[in-house]
Amino acid sequence: MTRGHLQIVACAAGPAADVTRLVTTAIQQSWTTAVTATPSALDFIDAEAIERLTGHPVRSNYQSAGRTHRSLPVVDALIIAPATYNSVNKIALGIADNYALTTVAELIGRQVPTVVVPFVNAALAARAPFQRAVANLRDERVRVFLGTDDGWEPHPAGSGGSRQKAFPWTAALDAVTGMASGVPASSADPG
Ligand SMILES: Cc1cc2nc3c(=O)[nH]c(=O)nc-3n(C[C@H](O)[C@H](O)[C@H](O)COP(=O)(O)O)c2cc1C
Repeated sequence: MTRGHLQIVACAAGPAADVTRLVTTAIQQSWTTAVTATPSALDFIDAEAIERLTGHPVRSNYQSAGRTHRSLPVVDALIIAPATYNSVNKIALGIADNYALTTVAELIGRQVPTVVVPFVNAALAARAPFQRAVANLRDERVRVFLGTDDGWEPHPAGSGGSRQKAFPWTAALDAVTGMASGVPASSADPG
């Protein structure tokens, strides 16, 4: 008996190298998981290790045109982590210019419980577009894990390496697990 299927979207920031920590914890908590990566995030992750853990290849591109069936399981919860400055802004604007963000756009539109964990420095987080993006996502009932209440703040520029170790994988999983309780399942695979 599983809790359901957790889709994880990794963007191109240092903590993506540790996304297997989230996968492992989620599996221990009876989620099935798969990881989708932005094209830039492929350089940060160990796709083979992720596939061994999840049983699914890491998706980054659309399926080839000849495929007729959807290959991903029904999605019950979504975690976007680490979420870059670039992708947070794009998601809030509804931009879907790669496979990962197309999936995210559709899942948020289907009101699948979604947690976004940005990994941004303080200079980027101070930008008005980013602050508007966070507010707009929260208006859409996306849980943006950022701020004093979450104990997760933007880091000083240049300190990302040390901050990476503190990335709140477990707290993000706890948050989405709470949101997913009692929520009907949905699915998305635009490929
Ligand atoms: C080594 C390296 C580390 C990076 N770290 C971050 C980061 O911590 N946060 C961030 O928002 N962008 C970071 N970037 C920049 C993003 O990778 C860049 O904006 C990229 O276009 C994001 O693509 P994506 O949002 O499609 O994943 C980093 C880039 C490199 C090369």
